Amino acid sequence: MSDPSLADAARVVRENAYAPYSRFKVGAALRSRSGAVYAGCNVENVAYPEGTCAEAGAIAAMVAAGETAIAEVYVIADSLDPVPPCGGCRQKLKEFAGAEVPVTMATTDGATLRLTVGDLLPGAFDSGHMDRA
Ligand code: THU
Repeated sequence: MSDPSLADAARVVRENAYAPYSRFKVGAALRSRSGAVYAGCNVENVAYPEGTCAEAGAIAAMVAAGETAIAEVYVIADSLDPVPPCGGCRQKLKEFAGAEVPVTMATTDGATLRLTVGDLLPGAFDSGHMDRA
C-alpha cells in the first residue's frame, strides 16, 4: 500500500493542473526521506515544448524546500490505465531516488500500478558513466 496522504496530495494538486492544450491533467506527489510531502501538476504553454510535467513540479518543490532524497512517488491522471512517467521524468526521478523507490501510478477511477524507479528506468545513465571524463 502506498501512503494515503500521498495519494490525496496528488489528487488535490491535479485539480490545479494547467493543461488547456492537451486537456490531460496530471498530479504528482512525492514523499521525501524526511517524511514531507511535495506536490506538482503539469503546467502547459502555448509554445508546447515549454510545458512541464507534474513530476517535475513536485521535484522542484522538494528541492526548493532544501531536500534531495525521494522515498516514494505517486502520479494520478484521468486515463483508462495508470499513466507512467515520461522518459524525461524517469531520469529526473532517478536523480533523487534509488532504484528501489516505489512509484504508484493511478487513475482517477481507482486503478493503480506500482513499480519502482529501477523498473521504470533500467540501465539508467548516472555519474559513474563519466568516470573517465
Ligand atoms: N504529463 C505529465 O505531467 N506527467 C506524465 O507522467 C505524463 C504526461 C503531462 C505533460 C502534458 O502536459 C500532458 O501530460 C500531456 O502529455
